[in-house]
Amino acid sequence: MSSVDVPVALLGYGTVGAAVHRLLEESADEIERSTGHRLRVARALVRDTAKERGFAAAAGVLTADFATIRDDPSIAVVAEVMGDVEPAGAYVLELLRAGRPVVTANKQLVARHGAELFEAAAAGGVQLRFEASVCAAIPVIKVLRESLVVTNVHRVLGIVNGTTNFILSEMEAGRSYAEALAEAQRLGYAEGDPTDDVEGIDAAAKMAILATVAFGSRVPLEAVSVEGIRGVTSDLVAAARALDMRVKLIGRATLVDQRVDVRVGPAFVDQRHPLAAVDGAFNAVMLQGDAIREITLEGPGAGGIETASAVVADMVAVVGTIGTGFLQSDPVWRTLEPLPAGELPSPYYLRLQVEDRAGVLARIAHELAAAGVSVARLVQQPGDGHAVLHVVTHETPAGQVAAALDAIRGLPESRGEASALPVVSDRGVEELGWA
Ligand SMILES: NC(=O)c1ccc[n+]([C@@H]2O[C@H](COP(=O)([O-])OP(=O)(O)OC[C@H]3O[C@@H](n4cnc5c(N)ncnc54)[C@H](OP(=O)(O)O)[C@@H]3O)[C@@H](O)[C@H]2O)c1
Repeated sequence: MSSVDVPVALLGYGTVGAAVHRLLEESADEIERSTGHRLRVARALVRDTAKERGFAAAAGVLTADFATIRDDPSIAVVAEVMGDVEPAGAYVLELLRAGRPVVTANKQLVARHGAELFEAAAAGGVQLRFEASVCAAIPVIKVLRESLVVTNVHRVLGIVNGTTNFILSEMEAGRSYAEALAEAQRLGYAEGDPTDDVEGIDAAAKMAILATVAFGSRVPLEAVSVEGIRGVTSDLVAAARALDMRVKLIGRATLVDQRVDVRVGPAFVDQRHPLAAVDGAFNAVMLQGDAIREITLEGPGAGGIETASAVVADMVAVVGTIGTGFLQSDPVWRTLEPLPAGELPSPYYLRLQVEDRAGVLARIAHELAAAGVSVARLVQQPGDGHAVLHVVTHETPAGQVAAALDAIRGLPESRGEASALPVVSDRGVEELGWA
C-alpha cells in the first residue's frame, strides 16, 4: 500500500491540541498501517505563537491567523480543540461551508449549535464528527451511530462528569462537600471556578448530545432539566449508605411513548447497579435498547491524551471515509415531543421528618397510597424530638411523588423536610422482564 501524505490542521494547541499532535506523530506508523495515510499537522491555530509548549510544533506550524487554515485547500480535516463557543463556532461554520471536514471536542458548541453546524456540513458535503465532546476517551458516539445503527435505544443513563463523581466519592470517604471540592481542585480535577461541573452544566451539554444521537431527535440544551450537587449533604450520603446505595450525579435520557425526557441531577444508585461501581473521576454510560438489552461503557471522561485519542480516531475516520458519504449526515431524522416532567416514571428515595409518636407512620402511608405511591422499603431513624423516615418507592411518575410530598408537608405531624431523589436500581434487562 503506498503511503499518502495527509496535511491536517488544529484550531487550538493547548492541553488537547498538543496531545493530538503528539499522538499523530507517535502513532503515525500504526495509522499508516491501518489506513494507508500519514496524517501530518500542517497548521495549528493559537492566540500566542511565542508561548512555550509542552509538545513543541515544528517551525511555521503555529499560527495566529485563522485564514491560513481556512484558505489552504490541501488541508484534509481540521480538529477544533480550542474551546469556548465563540470564535470556535464561527470558525467551524466557515470551514464546513467551505467544504472542509471538521472534528470537535467542544460539547458546549455541539449542544448549543448542533443544528446550524450540521446544516453547514450538509451544505458543504462534508463530515462533522464530535466523539471527544462527550466523555473523552469513551467511544459512545461511535457506538450509538455505528454499532447500534439498527437498535432502538430508549434509555441512556450516565455518570458523565468526573469532577462531581470524584467529589461525591470523597464525601463517601468522610469529607464534607467543601473539603472534597478543595481536594478535587488540588488534584486538577476541578477548575478554580467549578460552577460548570458542580451545577451540572457540563453534564447537561453531554446529555443533550447523547440524547440527540440516541433518539435521532434534537434535544436543545434548554430542554435538559438540571440540578447540581451543591445541595448534597453528608447526611444524604449517609442515608444512601444505610439503604445500600450511593449518591451519584446521574444523567438520564428517556424515551417514553415517543416523547423525550432528559435530566441531570443527584440520584441514589443501588450498590448492585453497574453505575454504582464507577468511582472517582471516571465516567460511564449505560445504553438500553430493544436489540441490545444493555451496554455499559466506562473509562476516563477527561484528560488531554484521553480526549486526544478520540479526536485522532475521528480524524482518521474522516480521512478514511472521504467521498463515501458515510456518516456525513446530521444524526437527527425526526422530531419528538418532550415528555411532561411529571410523567417520568422512576423509583424514588423520600426523606421525611415527622413527629415521633404512634399513628404518624400510618398517616404517612395513607398519604403515599392516596397519591398512588407504593413503598418498597422504609427505614425509620430517631432524630432530635422527631423521626426521620427514609422511604424507597416502587416506580412512580414524578408528578405523583410531588403530590404525595405536598400532602405530607401539609400534615400537622410534618416537621418540615420532605424531599425526593430518583433512584437508579434494577438493571434495564430486569426492568424489561428479560432477565
Ligand atoms: N482538557 C480536557 O480534559 C478536555 C476533555 C474533554 C474535552 N475538552 C475540550 O477540548 C477543548 C480544548 O480543551 P483544552 O483543555 O485543550 O483547552 P486549552 O488548554 O485552554 O487550549 C486551548 C487552545 O486554543 C487556543 N485558543 C483559544 N482561544 C483562541 C482564539 N480565540 N484564537 C486562537 N486560538 C485560541 C489557545 O491558544 P494559546 O495556547 O495561545 O492560549 C490554546 O492553544 C475544549 O473544547 C474542551 O472543552 C477538553
